[in-house]
Amino acid sequence: MINLNEDTITGAVIQRNAQAKDARLRELMVNLVQHLHAFARETQLTEEEWQQGIQFLTRVGQMCDENRQEFILLSDTLGLSTLVMALNHRKPAGCTEATVFGPFYVHGAPELPLGADIANGAKGAPCYVSGTVRGDDGRIVANAEIQVWQADEDGFYDVQYTGKDQLAARAVLRSDADGNYHFRSILAEPYPIPHDGPVGDMLEALNRHPWRPAHLHFLIRAEGHQSLTTHVFRKGDKYLESDAVFGVRSTLVADWVRHEAGTAPDGSRTDQPFYVLHFDFVLARAGA
Ligand code: BEZ
Ligand code: FE
Repeated sequence: MINLNEDTITGAVIQRNAQAKDARLRELMVNLVQHLHAFARETQLTEEEWQQGIQFLTRVGQMCDENRQEFILLSDTLGLSTLVMALNHRKPAGCTEATVFGPFYVHGAPELPLGADIANGAKGAPCYVSGTVRGDDGRIVANAEIQVWQADEDGFYDVQYTGKDQLAARAVLRSDADGNYHFRSILAEPYPIPHDGPVGDMLEALNRHPWRPAHLHFLIRAEGHQSLTTHVFRKGDKYLESDAVFGVRSTLVADWVRHEAGTAPDGSRTDQPFYVLHFDFVLARAGA
C-alpha cells in the first residue's frame, strides 16, 4: 500500500482495519472511515480547517474533568445524543418517551422516603411533584426506583458549585404499593448548558443559544421493565422549540400549576406561592 492518492486512500485504510478480529469494531471503523473521508471530499476540507478541527477537539478534551464532560456537551449540541437515544429506545405506543441523559447525573444520590423535600437547601420556589408509575399493560408498578435530579433557580446543578460537596435537588425514591410517588422540590427553571468552553464557542459561531427549557430529570428502573431516562418539561417555557440539545418531546411537556400561599399538597402551610406538577410514567416491558 504505497503511492496512495485521493481516490485510493479510503479503500486502503478500510482494508487495513479489516484485520480487526472483532466484527462489530470492523463494521464501526469501516463506516467511520468512509463517512470521515466522504466529509473531507464533499467539503473539499482545507488544511487550515482540518487544523482548526484538531485544535477544537483538543480543547474539548482538555476541558473535561470529573465534573465537566465537554464531549457529552458536544454530542448533545450536535444532536448525536438524541439520535443514539432514539435508535436505542424505540418503545411501544403509549410508553413514556426517553430523552437525553445530560452530564449532571451522579451516582449515590440520597435515598429518601416518599414525601421528602429533596431540595436539601437548593434555592427555588417550592414545588410538589406526584404521579403514578405503570407498565404498558396498564398495571401499576410498585417499588420502582425513581431517581430525580434538577437545577436550582439560578440554573445550576449541585455538582456545578465548586467548594460545596453537598448533593442537593436530587434523590432516589421508590413508588409505593399503588405505584404512586410524591416529593417536594423546587420549581424547574430554564438554564444555559455550560458554555464557557469550546462547545460554547461553537454555539456562538453558529449563532445558536445555549439554553435548555425548564425540566426535571428522571431515571426510572423497575423489575421486568425497561429502564427509562427522561425529563418532564415545563409548559410555556420559551425554549421548548429551541432546546440547545434537541431533547424536547411534546408528550413530556406538563403544567406546573401555580398556587398562592396557603395549604400545600402535603398539608403543610406555606407563606409563599408554590407549584404543583403531576406526571404519570408508563414503562415498556423488558424485551418489548
Ligand atoms: C441537562 O439537562 O442536564 C443537560 C443536558 C445536556 C447538556 C447539558 C445539560
Ligand atoms: Fe438538565
